[in-house]
Amino acid sequence: MKDKAGFDLLSENKLKSVIKTELFGKKIFSFWSVGSTNEFAYNRAIQGEPEGTLVIAEEQVRGRGRKSRRWDSPFNKGLWFSLILRPNMAGSLVGLIPFLAGVAVAEGVENFTALKPQVKWPNDLLLNGKKFCGILSEVDFRDGQLRFIILGIGINVHHKPHEFPEEFRDRATSLRAESNLRIDRSELLAEILLQLEKNYRIMQQQGFEPIISEWKRRCPHLGKTVTILQDDERLEGIFEDINEQGCLMLRTSDGEVKKIITGDLLF
Ligand code: BTN
Repeated sequence: MKDKAGFDLLSENKLKSVIKTELFGKKIFSFWSVGSTNEFAYNRAIQGEPEGTLVIAEEQVRGRGRKSRRWDSPFNKGLWFSLILRPNMAGSLVGLIPFLAGVAVAEGVENFTALKPQVKWPNDLLLNGKKFCGILSEVDFRDGQLRFIILGIGINVHHKPHEFPEEFRDRATSLRAESNLRIDRSELLAEILLQLEKNYRIMQQQGFEPIISEWKRRCPHLGKTVTILQDDERLEGIFEDINEQGCLMLRTSDGEVKKIITGDLLF
């Protein structure tokens, strides 16, 4: 559906007519404007909202990024959404959910646009070396038991290059900027949800191995020399592997292999 100005509005009716998944998006909360879809989903999940519930907004005024950064989420420009997940899995594996999401978004975008997204550790998606998608998962444990995960995904869709805040302009991109396609966001979302649900089933049946192996296939930095920024510390080495919990294994110049749990990768 397009309104008078030609926007591809994310109405609940349109979303319901295109979503083909069995679980993800069966229940939808859709907003013109919200603080953060993750924050809203978190509060609903605490109240017992079921797995697969989708929260989506045209605009977020307090969009959240990793490490308490803000996520710029202007009206009508992107897909800003969160899913409630209640997986039956070991708490030690929750860090792999963003890898699953990264693979699924890459596959969905590739099927829909023929662009070929790459992944950047820990959970960014790139086109031509610039970020177009970020993933933020937030986890709730109670009495040592995993209760739910909020999987938040932000995808820049319609932005023209000059529409990004100046500080991000050399590092951010959108699907439109990379393809010149006019994308219907509801249909793109439907394809991404399909890939998310497919990969979620794969994970439930076979574990994370097939997902990590697809993630590595899409990672241009694996085997290369990289710099990891951790607070004020810079670590340099060869990006050797991703371990079974999603940590980056970095071989430093003294031959030692360091396990990097968190940080920003510079390349
Ligand atoms: C990052 O790369 O720093 C992660 C960005 C995650 C942004 C998405 S947009 C939908 C969801 N709601 C939020 O507040 N954040 C995530």
